[in-house]
Amino acid sequence: MKTLTVALAERSYPIYIGANLLTQADLLTRHIKSKQVIVVTNETIAPLYLETVLAHLSAYQVESVILSDGEQYKTLDSVNQIFTQLLQSKFSRNATLIALGGGVIGDMGGFAAACYQRGIAFIQIPTTLLAQVDSSVGGKTGVNHPLGKNMIGAFYQPQAVIADVDVLDTLEDRELAAGLAEVIKYGLIRDLNFFEWLETNIDALLARDKTALTFAIEQSCHMKAEVVAEDEHEGGVRATLNLGHTFGHAIETGMGYGSYLHGEAVAIGTCLAADLSQRKGWLNADDVARIVTLFERAKLPVIPPAELNAERFIDLMAVDKKNVDGAIRVILLEAIGKATLPMNIDHASLTQTLQTYGR
Ligand code: NAD
Ligand code: GLY
Repeated sequence: MKTLTVALAERSYPIYIGANLLTQADLLTRHIKSKQVIVVTNETIAPLYLETVLAHLSAYQVESVILSDGEQYKTLDSVNQIFTQLLQSKFSRNATLIALGGGVIGDMGGFAAACYQRGIAFIQIPTTLLAQVDSSVGGKTGVNHPLGKNMIGAFYQPQAVIADVDVLDTLEDRELAAGLAEVIKYGLIRDLNFFEWLETNIDALLARDKTALTFAIEQSCHMKAEVVAEDEHEGGVRATLNLGHTFGHAIETGMGYGSYLHGEAVAIGTCLAADLSQRKGWLNADDVARIVTLFERAKLPVIPPAELNAERFIDLMAVDKKNVDGAIRVILLEAIGKATLPMNIDHASLTQTLQTYGR
């Protein structure tokens, strides 16, 4: 097992990465400082892993909440179900919430923990590749609104993250690929060597080679922890983690939550950001081709949905947390391995990319 740390002074916490971690009771219970524990998961993950987690908790007063599965259920209504269970069970302010699932459960569980009695402890047990490399680390929590992805939320850090690579055995291929989009993102924004490693090892990752997967998770979490420690509340460098996301969020909202997986939308969005970066004169055609090829090899889509024309796309992109005073801002690439901070982009440049890339 490898332990990384998200260094945030008195709110620092460990990320445990390795095989067979879910069966180790102590890894979990050492972070529970209360008698009352609530486990939040969904109807797909519960039959697979809930019992294993509950087996460690027989000494506690434990409640479980099993939510509907899907991005379309990442809503205030679902979070309210968690509040209802906490209140019905008369849980106190020192209770602990465990989020057992992918990014949807982690984001909602974290948000419920941030809000219940103005904040209770929570632990992330991410069960998708995407959640293990990205969403469980860094304390971004929240829900979607019909008018905007992740627009309601809070920064709220967990006590610990337990990333067991063995749980990825049951993940569907499409979900594994979606997680790879965020892994590729780290190479693109911060680490050319890691990008090159991915070019060499993408087939091993798709074949679920445990050594390759563990290395990719460790590298990704290392970079995420570094960025979050430097800029927890996204005043600067943390925004680079949003490469491709402004376009991606527009696709997710515009096409209906759950139609494109988050990682799929990010893959397309990153190709659009690469195209825009070439128009700025930073990337050359070979760089863009390398990026698109890696996403394609990872079995991810790279062309935006035909249903969204440039006007609608730009309208959707106008609802994004990076925007300032109404101006659309996106992350671009100066080179493979080097991202820009958010940049104002005029509608004419966006329209050019949206009308010509991949069409
Ligand atoms: P998800 O949570 O919907 O999980 C994907 C699917 O896999 C679901 O059907 C889930 O039930 C299933 N599943 C989960 N673990 C499984 C397992 N081990 N075996 C079998 N099936 C399993 O999707 P995701 O890709 O994990 O997360 C996407 C969400 O994460 C989006 O809402 C996105 O906005 C959010 N996100 C948040 C951050 C952040 O910093 N907080 C970062 C990136 C993404
Ligand atoms: N996933 C982007 C962030 O955590 O900042």
